[in-house]
Amino acid sequence: MIDFGLKDKTVLITGASRGIGFGLAKAFREAGSIVYGAGSSLESAAPLKEIGVYPIKLNVRNREDCQEAIQTIIQKHGQLDVLVNNAGVASNTPAKGIREDEMEKIIDINFKGVFRMCQEYYKAQKKLGGNIINVSSVLGMIGTPLASIYSGTKGAVLQLTKSLALEWASSGFRVNALCPGFIETDMTKMISSRPKLKEQVSASIPLKRMGTPTDLAGAVLFMASDLSSYMTGQAIVIDGGLTAQ
Ligand SMILES: NC(=O)c1ccc[n+]([C@@H]2O[C@H](COP(=O)([O-])OP(=O)(O)OC[C@H]3O[C@@H](n4cnc5c(N)ncnc54)[C@H](OP(=O)(O)O)[C@@H]3O)[C@@H](O)[C@H]2O)c1
Repeated sequence: MIDFGLKDKTVLITGASRGIGFGLAKAFREAGSIVYGAGSSLESAAPLKEIGVYPIKLNVRNREDCQEAIQTIIQKHGQLDVLVNNAGVASNTPAKGIREDEMEKIIDINFKGVFRMCQEYYKAQKKLGGNIINVSSVLGMIGTPLASIYSGTKGAVLQLTKSLALEWASSGFRVNALCPGFIETDMTKMISSRPKLKEQVSASIPLKRMGTPTDLAGAVLFMASDLSSYMTGQAIVIDGGLTAQ
């Protein structure tokens, strides 16, 4: 494995109980980092223990949870080196039928939750600096039917990433984003559990397959490491060529 220089670095990943977050938590552990993996509940985060990750409860809709998780890590280790804002929810509701509560939930988790975490991290470490990686999506760059609010939040995360990168660069913070394409997780089960649909989706991707959380690890470890020390306000797209078409 490439040495990213991440041994003993402290890392907090939201939404690490499963899917992409779980895969990234595993990759950071393999790189020797001290990893805190959050689920929206302690029960959902519990399986992280098996891969050497400290499980914590962190509902990104709750500011106290955001504050407490960051403070706990800083008190214990002196600083939080990397924050990965990965928690997110999707919906497949046609635009005309999206209710206020559904819209509010997606925006609150995918956009406001990312901002809350960035803000609490900055406040806690404004003298130390930091490294933030926000998980956006290719749907923050291109449109698709049935994902209007989700796409909107992911586009907003890309703009947030750029703005915070500029506002906080002088405080020693780097802020970057990841834009995954179709990755096989619970979020895309509705595709991967239907063989015909999965085949169609795979055929639409130049590399002819959906991705896995492992496909994202190298880019995230790179952004977390000093190998990317001159990079901020940018996004890396890992989508099998989908958005290159
Ligand atoms: N899968 C894809 O194709 C794809 C593509 C592009 C971008 N993404 C983005 O990648 C990220 C991870 O997606 P995924 O596919 O791994 O999804 P997933 O398998 O559905 O996992 C979602 C994660 O988010 C957590 N979460 C949900 N609501 C939360 C809340 N209020 N507070 C804290 N955590 C919460 C879940 O925790 P619990 O287990 O506790 O519910 C879970 O760990 C998301 O931001 C998603 O938008 C995914």
